[in-house]
Amino acid sequence: MSKLTIPTPDDFHIHLRDGAALARTVADAASQCARALVMPNLTPALDSVAAVEGYRERIIAHIPEGTTFTPLMSLYLSDGLTPQTVIEAKAAGVVAVKWYPRGATTNSAQGVAEVSAIYPLLEALEAEDMLLLIHGEVTDPEIDIFDREARFIDEVLCDLRVRFPRLRMVLEHITTKRGVEFVRSQAKNTAATITPQHLLFNRNALLVGGIKPHYYCLPILKTEADRAALVEAATSGDPRFFLGTDSAPHAQSAKENACGCAGCYSAHASLALYAAVFDQAGALDKLGNFAARFGADFYRLPYNPGTVTLERVEQRFPETLPYGDTTIVPFLAGERWPWRLLA
Ligand code: DOR
Ligand code: ZN
Repeated sequence: MSKLTIPTPDDFHIHLRDGAALARTVADAASQCARALVMPNLTPALDSVAAVEGYRERIIAHIPEGTTFTPLMSLYLSDGLTPQTVIEAKAAGVVAVKWYPRGATTNSAQGVAEVSAIYPLLEALEAEDMLLLIHGEVTDPEIDIFDREARFIDEVLCDLRVRFPRLRMVLEHITTKRGVEFVRSQAKNTAATITPQHLLFNRNALLVGGIKPHYYCLPILKTEADRAALVEAATSGDPRFFLGTDSAPHAQSAKENACGCAGCYSAHASLALYAAVFDQAGALDKLGNFAARFGADFYRLPYNPGTVTLERVEQRFPETLPYGDTTIVPFLAGERWPWRLLA
């Protein structure tokens, strides 16, 4: 098969940033998908309904003419969030709440320091039937960075799943075999998104032959066994695994830096990245559901109208992209790639 037509996809995990960045990020997102779940880790964090609504309007103002794109908004789970805000957010059309453990990643300083402090909020989410999106890493500095996802699952998530059995949870950007096993071991109300970088690469890409900052994201790339487990899950047809790129732009200077930021920018070409993964696994027939149906089902959204077509024709990814008054180095900059999205 050299051409593949799938239903119009959704991206259930994206960072669009704000201000001048929106011209780039919104247009790129809209080139790949009809809807995207927008992460709320701005500074300050989007932990009020008014802040989320204002952000939604700024995003909508940047949707290119002739394009349909719907941002699906999320609220930031800070210590200051109240059950009343959760109720108001749901009424305002906010679809999910994002939980960052404090200090886990970019702009998580307002995140949750103590899990037990958010039990009342989780109760409210469960009662409101609102989705909880989880950055699943422990932050204890004693714990090895490669173990942080598995330790979060074992020490935090297993307990929460028992405490809040009806809460619908998405374990975002899973990176480990343990993550796959955990989701599979749970009832149908636990799902996971999987990024292109975690499907394509293991930690060698980041660390062998020199440190490659454009492969640095959080959770960090893991072992080959982990990567293989993610590919198996994504291509298995299990509806609990679906597309979320975690496309996360940082200016070139912030990535190529002695203390480089975490995040890979894939929003401009995400479908071509996933297509190559599914092709290599002999599972192109599974891409449509992963990209366009399973996430919508979990979020209880209607499917998007229309289709997109991918082609097994080589493209070369750009070296850099304009980003406000600076540049970003997109994921796999300058590389040849075997698939492309037809305009
Ligand atoms: O690599 C990452 N970048 N992981 C995250 O969790 C956040 C994101 C960002 O916002 O830059
Ligand atoms: Zn993210």
